[in-house]
Amino acid sequence: MSDITEKIYQFPDGFLWGSSTSGPQTEGIVEGDGKGMSNWDYWYSIEPERFYAEIGPENTSTFYKHYKSDIKLLNDTGHTVFRTSIQWSRLIPSGKGNINQEAIQFYREAFSAIKEEGVKLIVNLYHFDLPYCLQELGGWESKEIVYAFEAYAKTCFELFGDLVDSWITFNEPIVPVECGYLGNYHYPCKVDMKAAVQVAYNTQLASSLAVKACHETHSDYKICVVLNLTPAYPRSDSKEDKKAAKIAELFQTKSFLDPSVLGYYPEELISILKEHDLLPQWTPEELDIINDNKVDFLGVNYYQPLRVQAPDEGPKDKLTLESFFAPYDMPGKKINPHRGWEIYEKGIYDIGMNLKENYGNIEWLVTENGMGVEGEEKFRENGFIQDDYRIEFIQDHLIELHRAIQGGSNCKGYMLWTFIDCWSWLNAYKNRYGLIELDLETEERIIKKSGYWFKELSQNNGFRK
Ligand code: BG6
Repeated sequence: MSDITEKIYQFPDGFLWGSSTSGPQTEGIVEGDGKGMSNWDYWYSIEPERFYAEIGPENTSTFYKHYKSDIKLLNDTGHTVFRTSIQWSRLIPSGKGNINQEAIQFYREAFSAIKEEGVKLIVNLYHFDLPYCLQELGGWESKEIVYAFEAYAKTCFELFGDLVDSWITFNEPIVPVECGYLGNYHYPCKVDMKAAVQVAYNTQLASSLAVKACHETHSDYKICVVLNLTPAYPRSDSKEDKKAAKIAELFQTKSFLDPSVLGYYPEELISILKEHDLLPQWTPEELDIINDNKVDFLGVNYYQPLRVQAPDEGPKDKLTLESFFAPYDMPGKKINPHRGWEIYEKGIYDIGMNLKENYGNIEWLVTENGMGVEGEEKFRENGFIQDDYRIEFIQDHLIELHRAIQGGSNCKGYMLWTFIDCWSWLNAYKNRYGLIELDLETEERIIKKSGYWFKELSQNNGFRK
């Protein structure tokens, strides 16, 4: 008998349920697969100690080997949509020119198998992974890479457009900017704000050129960019804290959201960059490309909010993000103790309403949300992981998403990070996110409690709580 205090959260007809992952985090490298070296492969070869447990990008979740049986698990876990990415370094090993025939065969077979399961397929072109030879040519600081990306994108649309339902230009393009050019977390580990701004601008231009190429290849093809639209909440109502939050939002959210959806950069961002002599090299023709090629819809990744406060001192000689705003560690915040990240479900509602009110109520999907858990094997009981905490995490975010949809926000689906536990950049397999456990020793895949629950969620198109 159902509890009368329970509420039913029913989602609109046709709402999509699924998960997201990426090529570099799942495929692995197999002898004779013809894959070229990416920036991650190269970095691991010179500094393996920077990777958790020294597990590098060649040892990802063996999808290249097991894709046929992995894809069979999509239906067992209720997927009506699935997202992954093509590795540029697998398809075009030297970044430009020759195409790897093995890669064409692999991606065509994998994509066809997903379609045969009746699952909608969304494919991303870039998930932090640049062919290393292009890094040597200057990476994203160079316009040459922008045009190499455009050519790569066109190749993908032509080779796989018949199998892909929707495309993504970039996943979280702010992350390589912040981690690779401001924070020394990702290769090339530079700390240089001027270079960071150029990288961000060039990436946006590349994204807009891919939108153009997609629509030119086939007028029906739909394409988006995936942004981590983490709202920036100020510590207090003071003028200084509010200004810091506004700048944080300009740098970390609006720098890609506005040009991608509205076709132009916010005036306030341009004036801050001008004031600090940070404007990138640009041309009026490039701004026209950005203006003319807006995305058809938006993917949104949301894990945790950004809480900020005014910086201690004003901008110093060497500008960094901390010259403009500082992180705020809010006392009493709700936390995921297994990953250390704040849990703030209302953030997803705020994102939905922001898109409705300020971005023409553009169609959007939650393309990532999820809960990383360190040491998850301790929750194994009766042979599988009893991850009630993940079910609760998803439910609580869905309640806020449901509220946003009721409020008129145009959200069409929810995709969890992730399908099968996957390798994650510097953290390797430390934080498990999947609906399905991966046994690293045996390569066995075991559905978690959340995987069975997710199937019910999808079949019922909602849940009670
Ligand atoms: C997302 C990325 O932001 O975070 C994924 O798009 C990544 O690629 C995920 O794996 C989780 O990150 P982490 O560091 O907790 O493993």
